[in-house]
Amino acid sequence: MATKKKSTKAKSKSAAKKPAKKVVKLAGRKPAAKTANGNGLPRPSTKPYGQAGKALEGVRILDFTHVQSGPTCTQLLGYMGADVIKVERPGAGDVTRGQLRDVKGADSLYFTMLNGNKRSITIDSKHPKGKEILERLIKYCDVLVENFAPGALDRMGLTWDYIHKTNPRMIVASVKGFGPGPYEDCKVYENVAQCAGGAASTTGFREGPPLVTGAQIGDSGTGLHLAFGIVCALYQRKRTGRGQKVLCAMQDGVLNLARVKLRDQQRLTHGPLTEYSQHGEGVPFGKAVPRAGNDSGGGQPGWILKCKGWETDPDAYTYFITQAPVWGAICDIIGKPEWKTDPDYATPPARLPRLKHIFATIEEWTKTKTKFEVMEICNAVDIPVGPILSMKEIAEDASLRDAGTVVEVDHPTRGKYLTVGNPVKMSDSITEVKRSPLLGEHTEEILRLLDYSGGELDAVKTSGAITAPEKGQAQAA
Ligand code: COA
Repeated sequence: MATKKKSTKAKSKSAAKKPAKKVVKLAGRKPAAKTANGNGLPRPSTKPYGQAGKALEGVRILDFTHVQSGPTCTQLLGYMGADVIKVERPGAGDVTRGQLRDVKGADSLYFTMLNGNKRSITIDSKHPKGKEILERLIKYCDVLVENFAPGALDRMGLTWDYIHKTNPRMIVASVKGFGPGPYEDCKVYENVAQCAGGAASTTGFREGPPLVTGAQIGDSGTGLHLAFGIVCALYQRKRTGRGQKVLCAMQDGVLNLARVKLRDQQRLTHGPLTEYSQHGEGVPFGKAVPRAGNDSGGGQPGWILKCKGWETDPDAYTYFITQAPVWGAICDIIGKPEWKTDPDYATPPARLPRLKHIFATIEEWTKTKTKFEVMEICNAVDIPVGPILSMKEIAEDASLRDAGTVVEVDHPTRGKYLTVGNPVKMSDSITEVKRSPLLGEHTEEILRLLDYSGGELDAVKTSGAITAPEKGQAQAA
């Protein structure tokens, strides 16, 4: 105490000498709560990193998702430590359990790779007893995540008003195909979203039709956006004490990922897009952003080039970027040192109309090397290149396994399978990837958590609310 008093005195003395510091007040910000350390946070944990629990530990998710977009979101939340309780229709479950099946009688990889780190409970949401279980789940959980067709949740009786009244802290997070507007009632799948979000019209070659991409930017991309929204809503709830609706439309999610193309649409009104190879080829631009083949999305010209073995290996290619600061190094490597000073090649603007010829010349060199040799040689002198990796190469890549990005999981009916681990690595929240649940594997365990026991539990088991209709009075899954 004595020392404290002394230092306060010393502070006020020095404050008298120095000009008073201007206090900047941030609009709407409340002063930090007065706690032991003055910033509203608990004292820093003294536990070793990775042993202080997971980022979302204690957060309970009522996972009403199916197919891909919603499950991607809840799996990520599960990777971060949330308790994800997946509600599935008795006897059937998420439709993807049986889609693209490769092993007879086992859940498909479509399902297993999107539903790790979750528990499964079967509930017929339209059965009176099912509604009762759902009410308890709504009271028990923090977030309800769903990606049903528009209106389906309301038709189940789970309106926002009902949920908010039952649990004012509940966050209701939804993926829909479109936001408010003329298409809001439409059902939407991945490729529809890619088309409606501007990705397809800007993907592919100028001479060909629009193309969809293999990366699931509509489904998994929107699931990722939704996960971000949920975490923000959880953070805001700390201040407001109440939940809110979080909506991610797949069209919006795709457009967010295609924002550079909306950038180019606006640039187009001020002149041609000079970095597009079409400009160098003298092909005039139309009114909308064209498909740019393998042009780089940024200001640095790039293209996909053949590498050694391309005649037989469809993935023997590299992406090659002719970044201006390393132009000299590129010229040396490909055996064209004279291009460093030739006015037709020495500067980026001079090169733009000659890109086709430049890349064809670089390709003569890349064709003499494997894509990995190109990577090694170019990266040594900071030339940005990237091998075109096949899924086979990715599945077998030791460094991706070591990093926990590709993870092998054991499953009781299908055996070992590969999944994609958490793409976000955190030093104090270490992801443990767990296998997907069997249909209804945790039904009883979760019912007990919701205080069902004895005769009440037996009544639920025989009600038909948690069993397939054809099984009638059968026991719980
Ligand atoms: N118990 C009882 N009924 C259940 C249930 C349960 N546990 N789970 C789902 N259902 C019912 C729903 O209530 C709905 O019934 P209703 O139409 O009578 O109201 C029905 O199952 C079908 O749900 P729905 O979402 O319409 O599935 P669908 O197979 O017809 O459509 C999508 C699938 C993906 C097109 C649609 O859900 C959708 O557009 N979702 C939003 C966008 C999206 O996420 N798309 C990407 C998917 S990867």
